[in-house]
Amino acid sequence: MTLAVGALALTMTSCQQKSEMDSFIDDLMSKMTIEEKIGQLNLHSYAGFRSAEKVNTDDENVKQLMAGQMGGMYGISNVNTLRQLQDLALQTKNGIPLIFGLDIIHGHETVFPIPLALSTSWNMPMLEQVTRTAAIEATATGVNWVFSPMVDIARDARWGRIAEGSGEDPYLGGEIAKAYVLGYQGHDAELDSTEVLTCVKHYALYGAAEAGRDYNTVNLGRQEILNGYMRPYAEAAKVGAASYMSSFNEFEGIPASANKYLLTDLLRDTYGFDGFVVSDATAVVEMVNHGIGDLQEVSARALQAGLDMDMNSDGFVGTLKKSLDEGRVTEADIDKACRRILEAKYKLGLFENPYKYLNPDRAAKEVFTSESRAFARQVAQECQVLLKNNGVLPLKKDARIAVVGPLADNATEMAGTWSMSSHAGESVTILQGIKDAVTNPNNVSYAEGSWFFLDGQLESDLKYGLIGIFMPNFVPEPVHTTPQAKLIAEAVAKARQADVVVACVGENANMNGEGSSRADITMPDAQMELLKALKATGKPIVLVLNTGRPLILNWEEENMDAVLNTWSEGSEAGHAIADVLFGDVNPSAKLTTSFPRAVGQLPLYYNHKNTGRPHGDFEKYVKFRSNYIDVINAPLYPFGYGLSYTTYEYGDVTLSSAEMAQDGKVTASVTVKNTGNYDGKEIVQLYIHDVVSTSTRPVKELRGFQKIDLKAGESKTVEFELTAEDLKYYNHELQYVCEPGDFEIMIGPNSRDVKMAVLTVK
Ligand code: BGC
Repeated sequence: MTLAVGALALTMTSCQQKSEMDSFIDDLMSKMTIEEKIGQLNLHSYAGFRSAEKVNTDDENVKQLMAGQMGGMYGISNVNTLRQLQDLALQTKNGIPLIFGLDIIHGHETVFPIPLALSTSWNMPMLEQVTRTAAIEATATGVNWVFSPMVDIARDARWGRIAEGSGEDPYLGGEIAKAYVLGYQGHDAELDSTEVLTCVKHYALYGAAEAGRDYNTVNLGRQEILNGYMRPYAEAAKVGAASYMSSFNEFEGIPASANKYLLTDLLRDTYGFDGFVVSDATAVVEMVNHGIGDLQEVSARALQAGLDMDMNSDGFVGTLKKSLDEGRVTEADIDKACRRILEAKYKLGLFENPYKYLNPDRAAKEVFTSESRAFARQVAQECQVLLKNNGVLPLKKDARIAVVGPLADNATEMAGTWSMSSHAGESVTILQGIKDAVTNPNNVSYAEGSWFFLDGQLESDLKYGLIGIFMPNFVPEPVHTTPQAKLIAEAVAKARQADVVVACVGENANMNGEGSSRADITMPDAQMELLKALKATGKPIVLVLNTGRPLILNWEEENMDAVLNTWSEGSEAGHAIADVLFGDVNPSAKLTTSFPRAVGQLPLYYNHKNTGRPHGDFEKYVKFRSNYIDVINAPLYPFGYGLSYTTYEYGDVTLSSAEMAQDGKVTASVTVKNTGNYDGKEIVQLYIHDVVSTSTRPVKELRGFQKIDLKAGESKTVEFELTAEDLKYYNHELQYVCEPGDFEIMIGPNSRDVKMAVLTVK
């Protein structure tokens, strides 16, 4: 299925505009020295993230800026500070304005659910509105370039940054990438002062880090990356993404930041990208550790491979002139990169008005507003995956409810990873959300219930580790001030007096995200103690799971009455969770990552291939088959899975024709009926399987989905139009082809429970 997209954002609409830009930049560059050109390729942060104080001109990075050696700055979210930095840039010889970048990953000051949660909504118009809202807030605080969207495909839940992406499927990931880019940049070529440049990251393949260990080596072949990983990066380029960020990992033995195949052959020559590429923070200097040369060597290699801007390494600004003098790079290499940075500034309109994004009056009116918070609540309602329900949900509003767990009354943890601009303390807690929803708040009791981990040092390191990096003399406050046994006893006492327990447990924000890989992805030990003690009370338990990654939930599936996976839901978490718990909203989200039964199954993904000795997902162990002695092959919860308070019945899959010519099209249809008592939204999914092909193909691949509204008792026929384009893949020669033969066309509510018809392509 190909989404029709409007005019390509940021692609110059007319030849005249392009030639005006070219001659403006030609003229500017003719006045620039080589050092000034190299200066444009340099990016740094500035210490005062939110501070509105006078900019410190003794700061090393500010000194570089004043010397005309800086193309942009990042990590600052305050119009006053940014105006001062822009003033300084304009006072340099050529007066070239700076671009200002920031990590805005799932909303800015109004925080939306983490990206993995957002992806479970499968709601493209809503996701576009999420980044549109973030762009308005970003630009109101002076930011004109966001380090987002993060589109890395991840098949391994150990990797902490799985939280920042859209899961394991390249097709869905591609659709989401487009929605995000269009939300940030708009649909037309012009950027108004509420639209920002995007930076698609992390280019490329960062999510395939071996063993889920962050920054680790990637070991994949070209055919596999083209079929399984690259689509989201390519789709973002199609809708005009303005920039990309090169990733930390290597591919084929060459770090991504100096990898010509990735940066030039694919990104520019194949995907048609014409913006600029910035390195990830310190990725250039890290290539010294990768072992491919000293800073001068890696900087020269990066530039020649197609990297345009160096974040934080001082590799370009510190060594490219020397490399030019020694003939290791050419002036044309430097000019090319410089031109791309200047073009981005031109497209932003900064040469016309360097203060376009620096309006001091906007933030007070346009950031963290009641409207944006109401939207964040609506979004979070669609990002909760109901994994199990034995009928205990929805809860009754007059029940006596014990709300327990370390995440129950924890406003700061609701925002999740990458939310440094959030009003964290002002997020709505789950306890608050429940109290606001019930008939009588006095019927709601609360207990913290447990520590996060039994290991206090680990808990402290996770909580304060980041602060410790920036403030080496920082003395952390003690954790575990109340004994675990006492916390549990209090929770159990509250549970005994209640009709139902809502246990709010899982990962806090520091347990996922960058640098937070886990080798054990079960419920942290201290919280498992709490769950077991609650279970022993015999009371019904609803597990409200806060997490940034798939967890192993075998015990929870067996012992909890309901499991609602709420991820980290952002500013309005508590309200949105209560909306679902009490049935004011019927849950509709579906997983975009497989949930394993054992860490040994990882990497685990639904679109895997068959082996020569395939084994049924639910079959027990058989020697000499492709399976494990100690766990079945099936995930605990498959890709695309998620329950509702109602039930849906799927009819058979019908095709408008059983045959299709290469230039033809066929409609696949299915009738879906809401057979339960609640109105709902259902995500209908279409998968294909190429039965015989010249290269091996996955057992299933998502190629379409529709999210439909169905009232109780209502039926709808859902149609998917298929062309050869939907059946193509990269063959062994890396040609993108639809090979004649049979294709299974499968439609269903998730990747496991599908019905099928066969289509023959001539
Ligand atoms: C992360 C990027 C981020 C950059 C700038 C890096 O450590 O990998 O995702 O955009 O820092 O903050």
